[in-house]
Amino acid sequence: MVGACLAETGNDVICGDVDAEKIAALSQGRIPIYEPGLEPLVERNIAVGRLRFTTDIPEVTRESEVIFIAVGTPADEDGSADLRHVLDVAAVIGDNMNGEKVVVTKSTVPVGTAALVKETIEARTDHQVHVCSNPEFLKEGAAVEDFMRPDRVVLGVDSPRARQMLGELHEPFVRTGNPIIFMDITSAELTKYVANAMLATRISLMNEVARMCDLTGADVSLVRHGVGSDHRIGPTFLFPGPGYGGSCFPKDIKALIRTGHERGYDFKILRAVEEVNEAQKRLFLEKVEQHFGPDLTGRTVAVWGLAFKPGTDDMRESPSIVLVEGLLARGAVVQAHDPAALPTARRLFGDRVQYFERDYDALKGADALVVMTDWLEYRRPNFQRVKELMKTPVVFDARNLYEASRMRELKFVYIPLGREAVT
Ligand SMILES: NC(=O)c1ccc[n+]([C@@H]2O[C@H](COP(=O)([O-])OP(=O)(O)OC[C@H]3O[C@@H](n4cnc5c(N)ncnc54)[C@H](O)[C@@H]3O)[C@@H](O)[C@H]2O)c1
Repeated sequence: MVGACLAETGNDVICGDVDAEKIAALSQGRIPIYEPGLEPLVERNIAVGRLRFTTDIPEVTRESEVIFIAVGTPADEDGSADLRHVLDVAAVIGDNMNGEKVVVTKSTVPVGTAALVKETIEARTDHQVHVCSNPEFLKEGAAVEDFMRPDRVVLGVDSPRARQMLGELHEPFVRTGNPIIFMDITSAELTKYVANAMLATRISLMNEVARMCDLTGADVSLVRHGVGSDHRIGPTFLFPGPGYGGSCFPKDIKALIRTGHERGYDFKILRAVEEVNEAQKRLFLEKVEQHFGPDLTGRTVAVWGLAFKPGTDDMRESPSIVLVEGLLARGAVVQAHDPAALPTARRLFGDRVQYFERDYDALKGADALVVMTDWLEYRRPNFQRVKELMKTPVVFDARNLYEASRMRELKFVYIPLGREAVT
């Protein structure tokens, strides 16, 4: 994605990855993930010769002035970010340096990683290397738009050369005046984690507020609107749901807790954020159990939405995994639909789940429907048709998409989150 966007502004870009299948697909303009707007960008830039893909990482090093390291940094067993891939790439860069280069850590990496990358490279070459930390703030599902029109670009630099090169590369994306914020490398590395920590904290706070609403009879949507209208708070990331997931929040929260731990600091708020989230991921399974009892043998449950959020086929750490595994363990038959994530789900669950290309087909004979992801197409279903297809009209709504008054009229059992239920 970064490569395609940088090619779009006129740069010559080579993207390297060790995954040969991925590279073969990308070389033909096929994107191995679901990301709106990315495919035409890649196709166009391949066609004009500004973008190419290779598995030859040494060649990428030799031919480039600026090298972005954007490999995965999964959570290690102890929660710390696993830097194996980042440092592997740094070693290959070091071994293939053929002149002065700027190396940019784009992966989300803990404080001190850029210094480690620099050390690794310098131990293998006499050529000068400048390092830069350029954390990525894009959202999956809106990645191209976020990269092309960022709220801000954060650049942690260690030299005037890195500042100038990276500044020039990013200027085309901030012509409307959004800032490029230059800072020291340590602050840049920490900024990315703090941004995700702040957003995850808002989500966990609102998930607890939703539970308070269930206990008190307040309506979380009204509370959210009431507090979100305060300009000091703002309206985003206040929607309660089945817990955060994805490739970033869970691992980044863990990694920041771990960074604190390594330095003798107990990051208490983030431990609570994580604990609330783990409990939240189990909430809708518990709600299903409360309704049907713990043994779901002979029950069929339809699940709408498997991706951790709309606009992506990514199911990493998705709350739907906890739900589906829990339903299967209790003996239920699971009939699942997702507009993008069915191939991902097939790899995860195999033939233990029944998959449906059309949302209504997943409802046939179901005892209940659980809506897990707020894809647009789930927002205004034809409830008459939903009811006709289901064995019993029971809807669990983990995203608060529907209105209790309407569901009552239609004679559904309706169980949302932190709002009036119909039982
Ligand atoms: N996905 C997001 O929305 C997002 C947003 C902001 C930041 N980030 C950060 O960006 C980084 C990458 O995330 P992702 O979701 O793209 O991960 P990913 O796991 O989907 O992709 C990582 C890629 O790195 C490749 N790779 C691994 N080792 C390699 C090596 N030695 N040489 C060359 N390629 C190698 C893998 O084959 C894989 O294709 C992570 O640190 C993540 O935290 C991701």
